[in-house]
Amino acid sequence: KMPYHIAPSILSADFARLGEQASAVLAAGADQIHFDVMDNHYVPNLTFGPMVCQALRQYGIRAPIDVHLMVKPVDRIIPDFAKAGASTITFHAEASEHIDRSLQLIKEHGCRCGLVFNPATPLHYLDYVMDKIDQVLLMSVNPGFGGQVFIPMTLEKIKQVRQRIDASGREIRLEVDGGVSCANIAQIAKAGADTFVAGSAIFNQSDYRQAIAAMRQELET
Ligand code: DX5
Ligand code: ZN
Repeated sequence: KMPYHIAPSILSADFARLGEQASAVLAAGADQIHFDVMDNHYVPNLTFGPMVCQALRQYGIRAPIDVHLMVKPVDRIIPDFAKAGASTITFHAEASEHIDRSLQLIKEHGCRCGLVFNPATPLHYLDYVMDKIDQVLLMSVNPGFGGQVFIPMTLEKIKQVRQRIDASGREIRLEVDGGVSCANIAQIAKAGADTFVAGSAIFNQSDYRQAIAAMRQELET
């Protein structure tokens, strides 16, 4: 299994001070920035796009930016995000008409690629793409909003994805997104995750360093 990564979701940051907040969580020990793109069409909320990703790069954010696309259609926004400095681009299986093509497009643009699964989306979409993906993003809440409660059924699904990844023999990250906190991160890791998205559990704390350290502490036990 790969080393644990903590990925604060800037969905829960103060949008008026995005650059400052992204650099603050990185200085506090985060490994990457999770960038939630919502389009008020695939999901019932609206956030930010490639221009904001580019603005973070121009502000001086050097860490990986993990772009989680909750948009439909998927393909036409991919080149823009690659140019804007995305490191990884993931999209929801049901949002793309041609999953293999979308994955290929992401790779052609020089980014890591991955598929996202909603809590009730079956894993069979992975059957023929394990040789292409760099990451699987499992939603542990329904996408659209921060601050929701972790859906316990997801733990079983994490185990199933872990088995598929191990069987593939490839280095594929298993990222879990939604309702991750100090209280459940150890259990999520035990089920097989190696990358943890946390929005409200980090940004709602006054001390980011302490919030991230507490998560790492849980991961060590
Ligand atoms: C939900 C987003 C998540 C969200 C997580 O659609 O994909 O990344 O920001 O927020 P928390 O950690 O508060 O559940
Ligand atoms: Zn997300």
